[in-house]
Amino acid sequence: MNADIASRAHGDAPSRGVLRRYGEHLPISDRTPLISLGEGDTPLVRSTSIERDVGCAELYFKLESCNPTGSFKDRGMVVAVAKAIEDGATALMCASTGNTSASAAAYGGRYGLAVYVIVPDGKPGSPSGIARGKMAQGVVHGAEIIAVEGNFDAALRMAREITSRHAIALVNSVNPFRIEGQKTAAFEIADALDDAPDVLAIPVGNAGNITAYWKGFVEYHRLERTSRRPRMLGFQAAGAAPLVGGAPVEDPQTVASAIRIGNPASWKTAIEARDASGGSISAVTDDEILAAYGRLAREEGIFCEPASAACVAGILKSAAAGQDFAGQTVVCIITGSGLKDPETALRSEPAVHRVPAELDAIEREMGWA
Ligand code: F0G
Repeated sequence: MNADIASRAHGDAPSRGVLRRYGEHLPISDRTPLISLGEGDTPLVRSTSIERDVGCAELYFKLESCNPTGSFKDRGMVVAVAKAIEDGATALMCASTGNTSASAAAYGGRYGLAVYVIVPDGKPGSPSGIARGKMAQGVVHGAEIIAVEGNFDAALRMAREITSRHAIALVNSVNPFRIEGQKTAAFEIADALDDAPDVLAIPVGNAGNITAYWKGFVEYHRLERTSRRPRMLGFQAAGAAPLVGGAPVEDPQTVASAIRIGNPASWKTAIEARDASGGSISAVTDDEILAAYGRLAREEGIFCEPASAACVAGILKSAAAGQDFAGQTVVCIITGSGLKDPETALRSEPAVHRVPAELDAIEREMGWA
């Protein structure tokens, strides 16, 4: 490890992070720097309201939005960046719908690596770009942001090509170290519940995360840390549901910009997770996503991004369609924070009471006078 990174890494101890906490399950060596930004160890919060509608015994939300950059990507990024540093890399690249790039930018900045991110362009008025908060993260962490006139799938093709030509480490989930890091969320859930849940509900875009969770649950089961493996229920947005339709989608469209992906890189492993677990991958409409997004915020106190709400929309839809979850433990993965996408939150005119700065005006307005 070079001295600069060693000196940066030594301040990392108080919060253990993924590499220290789960190192025995990760492909690291004594040359891998144990870097961390405090990722992992996220809350598993019981539902107060949606659980009743699903009709299961217990419903939990795994708040991956509580990771340092506000999404689950940090778990995988910390391993991918550690391995890149071990390999002597000085630059990182990813294609992204915004969260991978935010995470790469943060870890790259912290450990002194150049970061290049390729994102779908979102000119004003265009519905194709990444959420504003995610763009802000890339900017403040100092990444070079390359916005292309194309979707995520095109951006990923170019990132793969460029990193094969130049000495830049690719940190998309096609990098196996990303999957390794992300599987630790499955370990945390099993550790917290003392077993695997019966059902894991998860949004699916590029399909790395469903692949990672399944790998984690399979490994823990093999080690006899759990008595079972969950049924994996993946959910895609209806306008971007290649795994549901069985064919790539040329022009994916959904309000859930994080999962606006037409040709997932981890297609095969997502289907394997679905089939080996006895699960399914199905679609939810944007209206269903936004309804679940609103309920999560109003009734559960959870402000997530639309992509995250897809799995809650999906589990509610499955229950309403007659799937029986009685007696089961269900975990929904809240993959990213709602603060990343304020535009979706404020799509309708905010319900703000505008009054003069006078007590009686407030009392009149609120009907207390
Ligand atoms: N939820 C959020 C908030 C995401 O950012 C993503 C993917 C997913 C779900 C889907 O996970 O791709 O592993 O199936 N975001 C990637 C990105 C594509 O570039 O940030 P997946």
